[in-house]
Amino acid sequence: VTETATTLEASETGFAARLRTATFATHQQAAGSGFLVNLVAGHLGLAAYADLLGQYWTLYSALEAAVERHRGDPVLVRVAAPELERRSALESDLAALHGPAWAAALDPLPATTAYAHRLSDLAEVWPAGLLAHHYVRYLGDLSGGLMIGRALEAADWINPDALAFWRFEQIADPAAFKARYRELLDETVPATSELAERLVAEVLCGYELNSTVLAELDARHPRD
Ligand code: HEM
Repeated sequence: VTETATTLEASETGFAARLRTATFATHQQAAGSGFLVNLVAGHLGLAAYADLLGQYWTLYSALEAAVERHRGDPVLVRVAAPELERRSALESDLAALHGPAWAAALDPLPATTAYAHRLSDLAEVWPAGLLAHHYVRYLGDLSGGLMIGRALEAADWINPDALAFWRFEQIADPAAFKARYRELLDETVPATSELAERLVAEVLCGYELNSTVLAELDARHPRD
């Protein structure tokens, strides 16, 4: 029984566990973002929601272009699953919100631009570092993101056609997908390697970038 359990779950001493432990407090801070809490509670409205998706469009375009370019990188190759990609879902949501000229409504915040630059810089200087950002965004989307998506589906102020970002149509079992992702992290990155060290630091940087985007969104869309 123990043997089966260990083959089904990422090891407690592997890289994925190390990552989760090292970033636990930072995650709590990001998850406490006033913007997300207020948005989900219905205090901010549609313009704020559309702005969030616009920031995400800029960031996922940069992330997915960078990952696409280095899909064969040995550190990225196993986790870079196309079913995770969000750019076309974001485009259909933005079209539902703004109409066909949605691109004219994009208004990237300084933090979003900085985030996108970080991703394109990594594509130049350290492609393996993209794994950190892949993990922060997609594992987050498959965790807290699913909770946010369910809350928004239940709200009556958003057109359901503008919620594709939160739905992973090609992932039937997100919990199993995340468990497999964590196993792949363990298999790809030795837990005590220098690579692991650098990736933990880059994940912390990823949380910071996300928190700054959310803080700037909060400032742009004050709760009235
Ligand atoms: C309302 C906001 C949020 C809530 C409620 C939330 C909730 C959660 C929960 C419950 C988990 C654990 C899932 C599991 O163990 O299967 C999780 C994991 C995760 N979240 Fe969040 N989260 C939020 C915001 C964020 C943000 C802003 C980010 C960063 C962009 C983020 C990134 C992650 C990541 C990377 C994981 C995976 C941790 C791991 O298993 O290694 N989350 N989140």
